[in-house]
Amino acid sequence: MAAPPTTRAANEGGGGAWKEEGGGAGARRLATAALFLAAVALPCLVLYRAVAPAGVLVQPAALMPWATQQQTAGAPPHDGLFVDDLQESDSEDVRLERVLRSAAMADDTVILTTLNSAWSAPGSVVDVFLESFRIGDNTRHLLDHLVIVSLDNAAHRRCKQIHAHCLAVATDGVDFSGQKNFMTDGYLKMMWRRIDFLRQVLEKGFSFIFTDTDIVWFRSPIPRLYAEGDFQIACDHFTGDPDDLQNSPNGGFAYVRANTETVEFYRFWYAARERHPGMHDQDVLNIIKGDPYVAQIGLRIRFLSTEFFGGLCEPSRNLSAVCTMHANCCVGLRRKVDDLSLMLQDWRRFMATRNQDRLFVSWSVPRNCSLNKVEE
Ligand SMILES: *[C@@H]1O[C@H](CO)[C@@H](O)[C@H](O)[C@H]1NC(C)=O
Ligand SMILES: *[C@@H]1O[C@H](CO)[C@@H](O)[C@H](O)[C@H]1NC(C)=O
Repeated sequence: MAAPPTTRAANEGGGGAWKEEGGGAGARRLATAALFLAAVALPCLVLYRAVAPAGVLVQPAALMPWATQQQTAGAPPHDGLFVDDLQESDSEDVRLERVLRSAAMADDTVILTTLNSAWSAPGSVVDVFLESFRIGDNTRHLLDHLVIVSLDNAAHRRCKQIHAHCLAVATDGVDFSGQKNFMTDGYLKMMWRRIDFLRQVLEKGFSFIFTDTDIVWFRSPIPRLYAEGDFQIACDHFTGDPDDLQNSPNGGFAYVRANTETVEFYRFWYAARERHPGMHDQDVLNIIKGDPYVAQIGLRIRFLSTEFFGGLCEPSRNLSAVCTMHANCCVGLRRKVDDLSLMLQDWRRFMATRNQDRLFVSWSVPRNCSLNKVEE
């Protein structure tokens, strides 16, 4: 089972530039949850989520960082979107191509994540994310293939301080750097911008591993990807069958191979937002995953096991096998950072333990993370 990206021998740094709303999949889910909570019977739903964290209707989530966090102290004042990049004469398209090229593996696969200002602050999510690659089992070299996409200026500046491949992506008429409320027009635009962006990447011929930034990487996922399957996505809950459409996909981690099928699928997915106004990409994905048109395109969707691609909803039980762990099923940025940091500690403990004793190392998470609302 190998989707065989190999590491390029040499790698030059890249200049710059796409961003993510803070919580990626998480934020999307919370927004959905919030709407539900507001609209539907609160107590039942809260109870439901507490007992069924991988629920289908309401998936757990992260708070929208910009809705709750102050701009970091020390962050540059916001002075307009992508000042640095606007001064470059290159078009966004040319910049995109250049950054992807400089980060790509030999088989034209890139690793992509998206970032916003709250998550980019020193000591916040992005630092834990990058640290995991450094302490993981032979994962450091994967940083050479990681492109951090910023949708706001502060995130882009921080990226350029700490990483070689940074890309800023703007959305016409929307300033993503400020505070955003759930389910506002700007918020949804930003979520969908990511889908449109990923389609662009595929059209350029680059396959990608998309990862939310609140996922720590301990081993290369590449050997655990299926040899078959153009669109492979992680799950909040894995049924045990990679082909079972009843799996609950989590858009925070996916491997997508560049081909005509996946380009058409991303087009279809993006276009489907118009038929489902007010919904997030992940909710729409859940609706269209069984659409006859997807089968007609010839797209094979496969679901990744939580054994290798775990999360707080359903942790991998085997530290000898785990590749990634996602801080899903977690509301609140600070709690998220706390539990992600604990995962790094657990991993260090695992790596420092020898032989058979390793079998007894287990996660100390979730600890702070939960689905309960926080008063941040
Ligand atoms: C844990 O993963 C390792 C490496 O893949 C494997 O050899 C071992 O059998 C697994 N243990 C369990 C209990 O599944
Ligand atoms: C996380 O849990 C620890 C121990 O229970 C506690 O000391 C800490 O304040 C918690 N952090 C947050 C953000 O709730």
